[in-house]
Amino acid sequence: MEVIIQPEESAAAWLVARIIAKELRTNPHLVMGLATGRTMEAVYEELVRLHQEEALDFSLCHTFNLDEYVGLRPGAAGSYRAYMNRHLFSRVNIDRRDTHLPDGTASDLDAECRGYEALIRKFGGIDLQLLGIGQAGHIGFNEPLSALRSRTRVKQLTPTTILQNAPLFGRPGKVPRRAITMGVGTILECRRCVLLATGREKAEIVAKAVEGPITSMISATALQLHPWCTVVVDEEAASELKGGAYYRWVFANEPEWAEFRLLKQRRPSGPGPTARTPRSPRRRSRLKA
Ligand code: F6R
Repeated sequence: MEVIIQPEESAAAWLVARIIAKELRTNPHLVMGLATGRTMEAVYEELVRLHQEEALDFSLCHTFNLDEYVGLRPGAAGSYRAYMNRHLFSRVNIDRRDTHLPDGTASDLDAECRGYEALIRKFGGIDLQLLGIGQAGHIGFNEPLSALRSRTRVKQLTPTTILQNAPLFGRPGKVPRRAITMGVGTILECRRCVLLATGREKAEIVAKAVEGPITSMISATALQLHPWCTVVVDEEAASELKGGAYYRWVFANEPEWAEFRLLKQRRPSGPGPTARTPRSPRRRSRLKA
């Protein structure tokens, strides 16, 4: 695991978007795992800007979202499908048929979960998984006591999560009580994980997730087992980390991060130096229809 501390929320989101953009430019057929929530909005905003101003091309990639509420139609305002359409899919050149979320209205939810896992496998697995973290330490909707080897399944949401997500629905009573979520085991199988957390209210759980013991009570601690997990935080979310000085030193000195440090310095004056022309419009799917 590596931790990158950025001065503020916008810089943290900007860095995460740049990591995604680099992966997508290296592999236009990237299979991306996506997250929703307030924290991700700034990342999607920056990805849209990269698409519009720096020709970031989404036409060949595929996406799998972490989760969806049970009982909400895809068009329903609070659904994660609606969130993704609003913040990303309707604003970049991605074909909706290449975007996948679990169907929370499926008549057989267990079959839907098994099918979602099978579909991820069919695409060769997830290359890059974007993650947020809930105040109770969940990734996806893997609430406390989620098995560290769990697969996509239906989970009951905790009262903490229901309260955290209530603003999207107007009041807690309207938040669905259950969701389909990728499991912790599903997430651990992706090639690379990038977790973004910002704000003072995430500081305590970020410290537990990164520096605390691995426990199913805090599913994000399982990321310590992942071979390539980058945690990006702003100063506020980093405020309870014990190893901050070391994490800053690594970011300042590791050659891997040099281009991101440079880009950050250039940020106010316009696009970074790696803009490319779009690839050929010809679609080549990793998966035969
Ligand atoms: C949702 C998801 C959740 C959120 C987490 C943080 O798809 O994966 O784990 O990332 O609840 O949500 P915010 O960003 O709203 O604090």
